[in-house]
Amino acid sequence: MERVTLYEKLAEYSRTDYYPYHMPGHKRHAAGGMPEDVLGIDITEIGGFDNLHQPEGIILEGQKRAAKLYGAEESFYLVNGSSCGILSAISAAVPMGGHILMARNCHKSAYHAAYLRNLKQSFLYPQIMDEYAIYDALTADQVKEGLERLKEAGEPPVDAVLIVSPTYEGRIADVKAIAETVHGWGIPLIVDEAHGAHLGLAEHFAPNSCMQGADLVIHSVHKTMLSMTQSALLHVNGGRIDRARLRRFLKIYQSTSPSYVLMASIDEAVRQVEKHGKEMFAEFYRNWMWMLERLSACKKLKVLPMDGMRQDIGKLVISVLDTGLTGKELFDILLEQYHLRPEMPSMGLVLAMFTVGDTQEGFQRMTDALLEIDAKLCDGSLSGEAKERGWQDTAKRLLRMRQTSRLPLWSAWDAESELLPLEECAGRAAGDFINLYPPGVPIIMPGEELTAENLTDILHCRQAGLNVQGLAMSEGKALLKVLA
Ligand SMILES: Cc1ncc(COP(=O)(O)O)c(C=O)c1O
Repeated sequence: MERVTLYEKLAEYSRTDYYPYHMPGHKRHAAGGMPEDVLGIDITEIGGFDNLHQPEGIILEGQKRAAKLYGAEESFYLVNGSSCGILSAISAAVPMGGHILMARNCHKSAYHAAYLRNLKQSFLYPQIMDEYAIYDALTADQVKEGLERLKEAGEPPVDAVLIVSPTYEGRIADVKAIAETVHGWGIPLIVDEAHGAHLGLAEHFAPNSCMQGADLVIHSVHKTMLSMTQSALLHVNGGRIDRARLRRFLKIYQSTSPSYVLMASIDEAVRQVEKHGKEMFAEFYRNWMWMLERLSACKKLKVLPMDGMRQDIGKLVISVLDTGLTGKELFDILLEQYHLRPEMPSMGLVLAMFTVGDTQEGFQRMTDALLEIDAKLCDGSLSGEAKERGWQDTAKRLLRMRQTSRLPLWSAWDAESELLPLEECAGRAAGDFINLYPPGVPIIMPGEELTAENLTDILHCRQAGLNVQGLAMSEGKALLKVLA
């Protein structure tokens, strides 16, 4: 066992007189506005500090520590976010040119894996929660039906199933039941649990997917825990995944110069839970329930309540569908008038994220602001035109969309394309991804058909001030890439 933590070792080394004739180029001195406190501990692989791509010492110890915390057989540090974990997991679980059954609301990194590995993609569309215009979590029955439908249709056998849980909005699947179903077909289950690095760590949280039989689980430690941006974990369990292949893909998708600052940050986040998890999470839960209870008094704004273990603690979903405002308008009010910056707006809601890192003030300020806004919506001093413009229907239509693919992603994204004014694109196949960011879930992927209705909805999103990626603007006109 290592005596000191990775962070302590880095800090200790920064105080020695070893002169670095090696990378990084800043040589651990202050540079530009970057202080020595930060750059002094930013090293690359040097003797005594182990190697992420062949860990035998302090990094291996840290990964084992993480595995123990999450109940995984083996865990890997990720320094390129969950994105590289998802790329590695899919690449390891599905052969080149294989077939993946995936939730349509997966993050774009899952689509990128399908592109890179020439995969056939089949989609599972979760139920829609109409009152909030969000997808619910997938169920085991939906997964079972999806697998049976593909078999009956004579499609090639599915090599792996990928689901996202919790979703961006916090819906949590019954992963145990889904894992049993998927394993019944003799294939592995990958769970993008990027938003659930806190799951299973305290009594009020749902169990994490390692505890529920998933073969591969990806956690963005930076999203809901106390570590730095880009730091994440990949966990593997059972015998369905070839671990040598998994390691190979981690080597491919991760930097050969991994940041020790990020790795130390994952290690510190894990240790923090080991040492103080119980008190930290208990306080977080108290503050969260305090806020939800107060916000249940809102009459116009609708806050998604707890739902047993099916709604994640920390994802505050505020529906504006009964208010006349768009999500973007509420987001801007919170930002400009209250200096509160939520995670994202969408057409029909605002999502604010809370973690153990929040202070009581954070809970109090959001509660006060939302109660005040709700009162203004009730007395008519605040109103909006989203209903009249039909934008609230847009929010639901976007989820009901059933995209038709003319070409698989891997061939469509490389095919010849042209830029056309949006209103001329109906009936054409998309040449690029179109998604709202956040959350980075593709609405349309290359090769999928664009209908007049889809295009109107995409334009509505843009007009409502949402960040639509994949739409180019020229002289006030929206342009789209379509296949030539
Ligand atoms: C559901 C989901 N999975 C994966 C990712 C990618 O995570 P990262 O930013 O850690 O690469 C995101 C990012 O927002 C996400 O929302």
